[in-house]
Amino acid sequence: MSEFVRNQWYVAAYGREIGRDLFSRTVCGESILFWRTEAGDVAAMSDRCVHRRFPLSQAPSHLVGDTVVCGYHGFTYDRGGTCVAVPGQTRIPRTARLTSYPVTELDGFVWVFIGDPANADAAHLPRAPWLDLPGWTTVSGMEPLAARHGLLVDNLLDLSHETYLHGGYIGTPEVAETPIVTRVDEDAGIVHVSRHMADAACPPFYAKSTGITGRITRWQDIEFTPPCLYLLHSRIAPVGVLPGADGTDPDAFHVEVVYALTPETEHSTHDFWAVARDFALDDQGVSDFLAENNRTVVLQDVAALNVLEQVIAAESDGYQELSINIDTGGLAARRMIAKLR
Ligand code: FES
Ligand SMILES: [Fe+2]
Repeated sequence: MSEFVRNQWYVAAYGREIGRDLFSRTVCGESILFWRTEAGDVAAMSDRCVHRRFPLSQAPSHLVGDTVVCGYHGFTYDRGGTCVAVPGQTRIPRTARLTSYPVTELDGFVWVFIGDPANADAAHLPRAPWLDLPGWTTVSGMEPLAARHGLLVDNLLDLSHETYLHGGYIGTPEVAETPIVTRVDEDAGIVHVSRHMADAACPPFYAKSTGITGRITRWQDIEFTPPCLYLLHSRIAPVGVLPGADGTDPDAFHVEVVYALTPETEHSTHDFWAVARDFALDDQGVSDFLAENNRTVVLQDVAALNVLEQVIAAESDGYQELSINIDTGGLAARRMIAKLR
């Protein structure tokens, strides 16, 4: 049985990746063609020609206005995936139609709906507004992960691993030492995991980007909306500096770390990552540092999870994991994902 959670929206790409070149990305095992119409909207349809399966993303397939011409024998499709021309005859078979996908562009992401389009309601998509909001500067990327979606869920919901896997980057002893609080909002479909460190060492990621030299009060508040969008609200301030009673927080640095976790196949995942900050907005040096550093951190996770995928693929049935308090967020997320299936 397929492990994919269907009838869900997934981030397929950054908006900047989709233009007037034909672009292909596989989501939940479905190979999807993306392109931008002349009016600037994103079109999404199956990347397999109905005739002999030639990938429409593959040269010499090409766009002519708002139609895609297959590079093998010339079947031509409109933006909804309907075939509008075939070679050698005027009659177009009624079944000559590509599966088309509902698409929504939001917060710099291109979301695609996998499942029955009748269920595609974009009104309740989870948001990551900082990525596209004045007052914030964002760096972002995407790393291919040769591991299943669930391994990335586990990884992101339990940040105690920062101390060990990301020591010298974002990890300090206090992350693993500080207990978490996990809360599940069943109605909203969100898992919250919080870790508030009152007095912690400042890791290089934050020391170099904020300029703070001493110890810090460091808050990590996770909101995961299964199956795809993960937010880490990160608050950094000199020790003892807390938000005002009115909710303002002028003396802290805020970083919104956003991940979109999109299954590519049952054993691989698109790992979209973005880091938005509300300080040093025009400082290219800080942007370069955070982009380089966060990519390194993501690649540390990728290396670990790629190993885990191989371990799991090779093991015999019946392996019993052992879970402790740090795993409550990951276990809650697993339960929620199981319910969505
Ligand atoms: S495979 Fe596309 S037209 Fe033949
Ligand atoms: Fe990590």
